[in-house]
Amino acid sequence: MKKKILSLMLTAAMLAGVLTGCGSSNQGSTTTSAGGGTDTQTAAEEAAGDAKDGIQVGIVLPTKDEPRWLQDQAQFEKILGDAGFTNQVLFSQGSSATEKTNVETLISQGISVLIICAQDGSAAAAAVEEAKTAGVTVIAYDRLITGTDAVDYYVTFDSVAVGEAQGQYLIDNVPEGSGIPLYLYAGAATDNNAFLFFEGAWKVLQPKVADGTFVIANSSEATALQDKAELTRDEQAKIIGQVTTDWDFNVAKSKAEAHLTAAGADLKGDVLVLAPNDGTARSIADVFATDKDITSYSITGQDSEKASVQYVIDGKQSMTVFKDTRTLAADSVKMAVSVLKGETPVTDTTYNNEAKDVPAKQTDIIVVTKDNVKAALIDSGYYEASEFTGLE
Ligand code: BGC
Repeated sequence: MKKKILSLMLTAAMLAGVLTGCGSSNQGSTTTSAGGGTDTQTAAEEAAGDAKDGIQVGIVLPTKDEPRWLQDQAQFEKILGDAGFTNQVLFSQGSSATEKTNVETLISQGISVLIICAQDGSAAAAAVEEAKTAGVTVIAYDRLITGTDAVDYYVTFDSVAVGEAQGQYLIDNVPEGSGIPLYLYAGAATDNNAFLFFEGAWKVLQPKVADGTFVIANSSEATALQDKAELTRDEQAKIIGQVTTDWDFNVAKSKAEAHLTAAGADLKGDVLVLAPNDGTARSIADVFATDKDITSYSITGQDSEKASVQYVIDGKQSMTVFKDTRTLAADSVKMAVSVLKGETPVTDTTYNNEAKDVPAKQTDIIVVTKDNVKAALIDSGYYEASEFTGLE
């Protein structure tokens, strides 16, 4: 089938609601759909109407292997499909080389705007520089691309707030007493977000370590820095280097196993676990749940992946953070549409990427526990109640 990139092209057939364009490839997927109505749809339709010769946007996401990015893919396809556009999302499958090839493919297909969530924030600089040279506007999606001025805009959740919410949850749900073991885990060091999440978590957890309420159980680097309220990037890197999961379930599992094997009785009992996201949280939780010397554990997460929402309902994961991918995808499409219409996109902050202050649009996050899972995720229409068991 003919390969198409996400194409903001309103054809006569689309206007009539007969949406036919579709295609697929190993790394991407293309879908169309009709119906619905949103602000983004209106903006997109206007832009499409303005661009008689067609407008094209390419989307590159890091991997299909984590449900988080399938949520984003679904939202892109829905928003653009609802607006009557064909679209294609390419996945980099954990490889910066594939990511670069994906970007090159999209450039060769004539895109005007690239929306990209980098596999590796620093390595992606070369790919987006190529896009920029080809006259493409680059929107970094969720993860900042660093060390290059080829990033025009950034659409993101408040990632420091994610880390703060995770840390605060552990503080608010701490067992009685002091010297409570705290196990730290982090995301991939190649992802700028891993630093932002850790920064937020450290900000709220560190005072509790410094005053002896918590004791760090699994990172000599963190223990060495436990009296420092604010860490430099290099200091964060030392800790993350030691407790990284690489955003990989298996790495998370084997690190958790190794940590519990090494831990003495004083680091067991009622414990706290800072897990950076849902996929790693489930792996780590499963390990902690089977250790007979762990009496109870509180464990964080983020993304509100379906499997983790079920874990939260079942009491196997303590919290998750809802990052509404509907908003992030809609914001980046709105931004693309503004660019294509020759307008300046709406931004509300900037992020320094070591080369420039990148104008950014930031979205708030919502903490989800057993108590508000229904209100946050079902009543908001993000999931169906029937997708879960034991929901009250
Ligand atoms: C995203 C998280 C995600 C993680 C692993 C981060 O950059 O912000 O939502 O869980 O990457 O893919």
